[in-house]
This record gives sequence, structure tokens and C-alpha cells, in this order.
Amino acid sequence: MDWPGRHVIITGGSSGIGKATAMLLAKRGANISILARDPQKLELAKREIAASGRGQVFSHSADLAVRAQAEQAIASAVEALGAPDLLITSAGIAHPGYFQALPIEIFEQTMAINYFGTLYCIKAALPQMTSGSHIALIGSGAGLIGIYGYTPYSPSKFAVRGLAESLRGELKVSNIGLSIVYPADTDTPQLAAENLTKPAETQRITATAEMWSAERMAAAIVKGIEQKAFVIAPGQEMSVLAKFHSLIAPGLNWYFDRIVRQVRSALPKP
Ligand SMILES: NC(=O)c1ccc[n+]([C@@H]2O[C@H](COP(=O)([O-])OP(=O)(O)OC[C@H]3O[C@@H](n4cnc5c(N)ncnc54)[C@H](OP(=O)(O)O)[C@@H]3O)[C@@H](O)[C@H]2O)c1
Repeated sequence: MDWPGRHVIITGGSSGIGKATAMLLAKRGANISILARDPQKLELAKREIAASGRGQVFSHSADLAVRAQAEQAIASAVEALGAPDLLITSAGIAHPGYFQALPIEIFEQTMAINYFGTLYCIKAALPQMTSGSHIALIGSGAGLIGIYGYTPYSPSKFAVRGLAESLRGELKVSNIGLSIVYPADTDTPQLAAENLTKPAETQRITATAEMWSAERMAAAIVKGIEQKAFVIAPGQEMSVLAKFHSLIAPGLNWYFDRIVRQVRSALPKP
């Protein structure tokens, strides 16, 4: 894709992976719309993105888990900068914890933004999108295999993967591309917040994962979109997981169970 003059809408573009991708595409000459809730974070990000590129930058505050707000946000972006050439759905949350200890509202909120927020924005943007345009959904490795301590998050990302896999073929006949991204662990405010509430077992399971900067992850995402890749799985771990997850799940579950037993046996006995 030739970026100058293109309109890229990025949900969750005020932070982390979304913001880094917005900055990179702004640098390449694209016009950027960022959508998220917190108006102050949006304003700061808008300034940073504008300073890194020469295109226009639009921001709109909305809770994308609420259908009417998501539809309004996409409509405002289209009105400001025209039909989207690329939509990236990066808005998402993750609250790790033990299943029994997490309130049901966390499960509802996580599904509401991670899955329905993604769905609402695609549904609203698609009628405006023409041949040659592209949609990239930010999934997760936790949408390929269930991860201990991620019972609200994993199912929401499985749903995002299901949407990507079922929608891909429908869009292909209209020459609209679609990618699903499985980011490796990326140094963002979300991951820092997750580390505060991760159960000890989850800390150990995820401890060996390679950490990417948001900028490096953004570069891999943009490269994958330019190559029109359906699966964008940056790094060796995600690449293997994306290709072989069903095949290696029994071995991974055995390995995770062993870590859980080790962590639990080291805890003081009640
Ligand atoms: N970081 C990682 O290691 C990692 C790994 C795999 C997948 N991912 C996925 O990558 C995506 C981006 O994560 P990140 O790490 O970059 O997180 P982040 O820095 O916390 O960014 C999340 C963005 O989503 C927005 N957002 C959250 N809830 C929203 C809502 N209800 N409505 C509108 N916007 C909302 C946030 O802004 P407001 O809070 O102001 O709304 C923020 O802009 C997520 O989908 C995440 O699951 C991340």
C-alpha cells in the first residue's frame, strides 16, 4: 500500500501498539484517525502522531464497547478524513486473575471491548471501504491457546480470531484484505498493568517470552499489512504458535501444568 494521502483508522490509537502503529504510518505520510475513551490521552497522542508525520490527524473519544458510540466514532472519522483505506482494531483490555476470584463484570467488559468493540467498528467502517482497502484485527497468542489466569481475555481473543477467519473469504471477493495479528509480548501500559495482577503461575508461564518494543511490533504489523498477509505473527514463538497451535497444545498444556504444580508446591502450606 502507498501511504501518502491514505486514511488509516486505528482503534486504541492513543496508547501502546495502536499509537506506535499510528506514528509509523503518519511518518509514511498517511492521514490518521485515532479512537479511544480517555480524551486527555487522545489529545497527547494526537500531538505526538501529528509531530511524527505530515498528514492530518483526527481523534474522537468513544467507548467502543458501546455500539452507538462505536458507530458514531467511525462516522466522525469518515466525515473528517474520508473513507478508510485501512482499519486497525487495537482497542482492548486484559485483566488476568484466578477465575473464581474475578467478578463476572470483568468477563463482560473484556468481551464487550475486545470482541464486540472490534465487530462494531468493522461493521460501521466496511460499507465505506472500497476495493484495495484493508482491515487488521489485533488478536493475541491467548486467542490461539488458552492461557492459565486469562479466563476473561483468552475467550475474547478466540472470538476475534473466529471473526477474522470467517470474514476473510467474504472480503476477499470484494478485494478487501484482512489480517489477524498475534503480537508477541509488547512493552505497553496494558502489559505493565497486567503484570500487577497476574497470578504467580501466569507470571512463570509468561516469564520466558521475548519482550518487544511497541515500535518494533508496529513495524512488523505494517510490514505484514503491506505484504497482505492474513496471519501476522511477529517473532519465532508467535510464528510457531500460529502455525501449529492445535498440534502442540497437548505438549504446552503438560508444560504449563508442570509450572503450575511447581509454583503451588513452593507456596506456604495452609
Ligand atoms: N501488549 C501486549 O503484550 C499484547 C500482546 C498481545 C495482544 N495485545 C493486544 O494489542 C492491543 C493493544 O494493546 P496494548 O498493549 O497496546 O494496550 P494499551 O497500551 O493499553 O492500549 C489499549 C488502547 O485501547 C483503548 N481502549 C481500551 N478500552 C477501550 C474502550 N472500551 N473503548 C475505546 N478504546 C478503548 C485504550 O484507550 P482508553 O483506555 O483511553 O480507552 C488504549 O488506547 C489489545 O487488543 C491487546 O489485547 C497486546
